[in-house]
Amino acid sequence: MLTPEDLPACVRLAADRQWPEEPDKWAFLLRVGTGFGLFDGGELVGTTIATRFGDEHAAISMVLVAPGHGGRGLGRRLMEHALEFAATPVVSLHATSYGKPLYEKLGFRSVGLVTAHIGAFDGTASGTSRPVEDGDRAKVVAVDAEVFGADRSAMWGALFGFASQVRVADDGFAAVWRNGSVSMVGPVVAPSVSRAAELIADVAVGATVRVDVRDPALGAWLEGHGVVPRFTADLMVRGAFSGDRARLYAPVMQALG
Ligand SMILES: CC(C)(COP(=O)(O)OP(=O)(O)OC[C@H]1O[C@@H](n2cnc3c(N)ncnc32)[C@H](O)[C@@H]1OP(=O)(O)O)[C@@H](O)C(=O)NCCC(=O)NCCS
Repeated sequence: MLTPEDLPACVRLAADRQWPEEPDKWAFLLRVGTGFGLFDGGELVGTTIATRFGDEHAAISMVLVAPGHGGRGLGRRLMEHALEFAATPVVSLHATSYGKPLYEKLGFRSVGLVTAHIGAFDGTASGTSRPVEDGDRAKVVAVDAEVFGADRSAMWGALFGFASQVRVADDGFAAVWRNGSVSMVGPVVAPSVSRAAELIADVAVGATVRVDVRDPALGAWLEGHGVVPRFTADLMVRGAFSGDRARLYAPVMQALG
């Protein structure tokens, strides 16, 4: 199992795969989930993190194999181990084109594309939300469960501290957290694209942001405000999603859904 001491090695492994250095994200994921590492002579050569949301749903992330160790079954071993550990009827993940064939062999199917939009947001705040207060937290967690389809209260317990802002409205909420120089917007829960845009504007104003969206109209609105499409990933699931997922306009992060 990976511990906080393995963080520098995880960050190095990601860099070897041309992934960005994201130490705060790794630390957060290792706190809310369980990380597994494969070692070769003391060197970390493979990782994955499984985050269980109760007994129903788990998210798998950070599936990485060192460049010199690819194609020998390590990726499959890591995934099989994570799936056995999770032992939930529903497992979801966001897949790169490298990972997708492996996940398909393990019973995952793609349910849509998510496009990461990145840039300096040049819009203005809508003023239709306010900072979350302690008394709002239970409602945020309950609405998230309704929309996501699983109780993520343990993750939220950590996210309220990790997020730089969580803003709420009567009909939804949006959070933002720091990942190096970029403010990552998510989750965004709203009843419509236009409300999602208003909530995003309130947390993104004046910042360089990344928002991962599957709704083309929301993507077009972001692009119109300087936050442009950069890459896509497949949202994949093993088992079936539940929840009112149409209202989930952006994930917490791809690693958590
Ligand atoms: C994705 C990754 C983890 C795979 O690791 P790996 O150790 O090379 O994978 P494995 O050797 O276990 O191979 C996985 C399976 O996918 C298959 N596969 C790989 N590429 C394929 C392709 N293009 N088409 C069809 N099958 C493919 C392999 O044949 C193997 O199948 P098998 O287990 O039935 O023999 C690794 O390439 C990696 O770290 N990539 C960069 C980071 C990344 O994108 N990770 C995925 C995040 S979603």
